[in-house]
Amino acid sequence: MYRIVKKAELTTNIYLMDVEAERVARKCLPGQFVIVRTDAESERIPLTICDYDREKGTVTIVFQCVGAATQWMAKLQEGDSFHDFVGPLGCPSELVKESPETLKKRKILFVAGGVGTAPVYPQVKWLHENGVNADVIVGSKTKDLLILEKEMEAVAGSLYITTDDGSYGRSGMVTQTIKDLVAEGKKYDVCIAIGPMIMMKFVCLLTKELGIPTVVSLNPIMVDGTGMCGACRVTVDGKVKFACVDGPEFDGHLVNFDEAMRRQTLYKTEEGRAVLKLEEGETHHGGCGNCG
Ligand code: NAD
Ligand code: FES
Repeated sequence: MYRIVKKAELTTNIYLMDVEAERVARKCLPGQFVIVRTDAESERIPLTICDYDREKGTVTIVFQCVGAATQWMAKLQEGDSFHDFVGPLGCPSELVKESPETLKKRKILFVAGGVGTAPVYPQVKWLHENGVNADVIVGSKTKDLLILEKEMEAVAGSLYITTDDGSYGRSGMVTQTIKDLVAEGKKYDVCIAIGPMIMMKFVCLLTKELGIPTVVSLNPIMVDGTGMCGACRVTVDGKVKFACVDGPEFDGHLVNFDEAMRRQTLYKTEEGRAVLKLEEGETHHGGCGNCG
């Protein structure tokens, strides 16, 4: 069992939890994720790791209540435990594989959208701890939904907050701030965008035009998290990939976002899954080959 040692509501319906998971905390790196279950019967929920404390043996997760499973999760209190806390899953961010000296020579831009701010934070923090300053754009629908502002301010080189309704910081979507920064003379060697699929799609369309290589972290529906079930299938550069084992990070300019968004909708219903099986045939699954 994995005990919750801290719980906080960051804003309406978005919660942060520090969970005792010593083995995950010891091994995890920025960019990886966990799959949690509140009890033996509950749905598996994939969540990108937001932070970790190797000494205390805790892992921080941030989640938004979007359905029954996350609402059950939100009912858990400090002292309660998760039944499963599986991880670290997926590949670590490419950035953490490079030397700080190499990274210091690169101008790095992070673009975080809404709850996607949580997975951006450990990467920016890791860079900061290694002496690398990255610019960070955080986009939120409105001021009240903004999360982790103080934490991000403490580790970002420059932080640009933007709200869709102009209630705080700059006004408009993250893509507007990218355009503004570039127009102001900023140059970037790489952009890392994490947020809703639609945001990542439009960030990639823009950065392609601007000639900025872009990495995205995909969060399709996941079931097993080990490349077997096929739920998280995406197409990257015309090839079938599974976000849970090949990602979650991919070259954003090569991702077929329209297909990924359609799959995300279809996978939710039995009828939709049947359509996908028909369309994807033999390549539907990662490995097990059995649908249903
Ligand atoms: P949101 O809808 O509030 O969007 C956040 C920001 O994204 C907006 O403020 C805006 O600046 C930008 N954005 C949205 N649509 C855009 C568009 N068409 N063009 C340009 N920019 C756009 O975000 P939310 O409600 O926090 O998002 C929740 C979604 O994020 C869920 O679907 C969740 O699955 C996903 N999510 C993804 C990850 C990940 O790893 N990729 C992590 C956490 C959450
Ligand atoms: Fe990736 Fe099942 S969640 S293949």
